[in-house]
Amino acid sequence: MKFQKLSVLLCLLCLNPSLWGRESIRIATENVDLIFRVGDNGRLRQVYLGKKLLNDADIQHLTDGREAYLTHGMEDYFEPAIYVEHGDNNSSLELKYVSHEERILQEGVKETVINLADEKYPVSVKLYYVAFYDNDIIKTHTEIVHKEKKPLMLHKYASSMLHFNKAKYFLTEFSGDWASEAQESTQELLFGKKVLDSKLGSRANMFTPPFFQLSFNGVAGEDTGEVLMGTLAWTGNFRFTFEVDNYNCLRVISGINPYFSNYELPANNIFRTPDFIFTYSFNGKGVASRNFHDWARQFQLKDGQGNRRTLLNNWEATYFDFNEEKLIGLLDDAVKLGVDMFLLDDGWFANKYPRCNDTQGLGDWVETKEKLPNGIGKLIDEAARKGLKFGVWIEPEMVNPKSELYEKHKDWVIHLPNRDEYYFRNQLVLDLSNPEVQDYVFGVVDGLLTKYPQIAYFKWDCNSPITNIYSPYLKDKQTHLYVDYVRGLYNVLDRVKEKYPNLPMMLCSGGSGRIDYKALSYFTEFWPSDNTDPIERLFIQWGYSQFFPAKTICAHVTTWNNKASIKFRTEVAMMGKLGFDIKLSDMTLDEQAYCKEAVKNYNRLKPVILDGDMYRLVSPYTGYHSSTMFVAKDRLKAVLFSFDMYPRYAERMQNVCLKGLDATKMYRVREINLMQGQVSSLRENEKLYSGDFLMKVGLNIFTNQKMNSRVIEIVSE
Ligand code: DGJ
Repeated sequence: MKFQKLSVLLCLLCLNPSLWGRESIRIATENVDLIFRVGDNGRLRQVYLGKKLLNDADIQHLTDGREAYLTHGMEDYFEPAIYVEHGDNNSSLELKYVSHEERILQEGVKETVINLADEKYPVSVKLYYVAFYDNDIIKTHTEIVHKEKKPLMLHKYASSMLHFNKAKYFLTEFSGDWASEAQESTQELLFGKKVLDSKLGSRANMFTPPFFQLSFNGVAGEDTGEVLMGTLAWTGNFRFTFEVDNYNCLRVISGINPYFSNYELPANNIFRTPDFIFTYSFNGKGVASRNFHDWARQFQLKDGQGNRRTLLNNWEATYFDFNEEKLIGLLDDAVKLGVDMFLLDDGWFANKYPRCNDTQGLGDWVETKEKLPNGIGKLIDEAARKGLKFGVWIEPEMVNPKSELYEKHKDWVIHLPNRDEYYFRNQLVLDLSNPEVQDYVFGVVDGLLTKYPQIAYFKWDCNSPITNIYSPYLKDKQTHLYVDYVRGLYNVLDRVKEKYPNLPMMLCSGGSGRIDYKALSYFTEFWPSDNTDPIERLFIQWGYSQFFPAKTICAHVTTWNNKASIKFRTEVAMMGKLGFDIKLSDMTLDEQAYCKEAVKNYNRLKPVILDGDMYRLVSPYTGYHSSTMFVAKDRLKAVLFSFDMYPRYAERMQNVCLKGLDATKMYRVREINLMQGQVSSLRENEKLYSGDFLMKVGLNIFTNQKMNSRVIEIVSE
């Protein structure tokens, strides 16, 4: 991103006690204010976080507040944001305000940097806040630097600390496991601590992703209530600590998980924490999600404004059991479906230990001669002849002990030198803290793209957490491994992005074991779960939609839960980035014709679904029905998805009110995506309604039929 320096408003370079007790620092977006004030003792206090104050003059009345970035060893007895140990074994830190600077990074994006320093020890901390005005998003991180003789030991180094003073706090988390990712649950926070964290290293989010929602005073709904939504942009161990203190004030500390991560910082080196990104909504979760979606597409997501391709993936269609002929047959299926791309999944590589199952071959990135005698090149050519792009699955951070790579380079593998190895999915993790390994991993991608420049897409998988935790490279700095692994990964991904800036990539991690906004600056999309049962997907996609826009959420039609019709399965997948993971021979001719039509409809609706505003209308957590709609930014078009999961016997259906339309416009309502010969039973089908009516009276979208679904196109006339 090219930053345009428009102004430097203030820059004071040394401790300036004359400002203590007077200085206010305001981080503002269109609707939110985060305000700091320097106390008489020079310490920085957060005095406000909430709805934007209309009168600047009122800021002077903000007197209360808590130490903004709480340090260890001083007079507060709750969890600190930072805990360091000096060379003389003293572990206290007292941070005082030195100066602050503000600059406009680009239109609507303002950065504020607050410089703090200790008077007794040469340790400085910079707090960074970037305010995205239109999105009500604030991105914050910290930099720690020192000039002590010996290295400074960092025990805790949060990205952010936020303080709240409300009557009640409700935390919504999204924990789960393989095949049940992003399951929403809410609890009240009372005195004491609640921690959400991960210690898994690489497949770091297998049990819980790095995001949360915090409702104040009552649980926020889609359009009601105050809610702060936060996420850490870090592709590794994270920790969110929520602590309610003796005054019923809540402190939220977000950052890298300090667990087994003491970090030795040499003098003059900067330790930069990852970004913590949050939004604050006073009108429920829907607004907060849309803030994140818009911000991501505009500022964070790789190719955020770009198109996404539909695809056919062979994983569920073949697993490891394929050869050239089978794959060429699937290319034909892809053409018949009308998708843009074919994605070759796991099982195409290794010769000494061919990858015929998940016990061997990982690490040996050369085509298996027996399966693909003419290499990937032949498949790419065939695909091109048929008008398809071609993508390839890789898992370059991992190795099977049964591989040539392991035999040659055991020193590149994270493993305990003096113990038996423990395997997760029969594999081990490569030591990305080692620059040589970083070169190797970059070389996997670069080698394939050099040999086959027509490769148009990668699915980058990561099926194991870091196990057998010991880095042969880091030697006496083992506690650096979790942090340096992620930094090594970013080094690789930076190089990939620099050399292949337009290459779309899917982030996958044995389902969705790894998803965060830093990763999404390198990846265009992610795989939310191996569970593609459409009922389960309604929940999983609901969970991820809280933070991530539809264009990042890969959703494939498979044979999971084939009691659900192909129509139901496809329509759930159409709410994300649509793909298929199924053979046409698994479908009847009618079903195939339906899918073809659905792909066409999806292509027409893509700008609405992928780049429009998402409104979650009915939650699957109600247990019976679910509905979500997408509205184009110009509000001329919308598409509504409705799903009857388990309707009750003789249930009386309520209308569902639509959202986000223009009340003054007239819209034609039309059910699309019908099966051959199916006639729409939607009462309002093909009729014209005002946006006002649709939003106040709504549509009768649900039915009494189990696993029934509808796609309704709403177009202004
Ligand atoms: C796990 C992924 O989630 C699947 O989609 C598939 O790519 C397998 N790995 C392949 O081993």
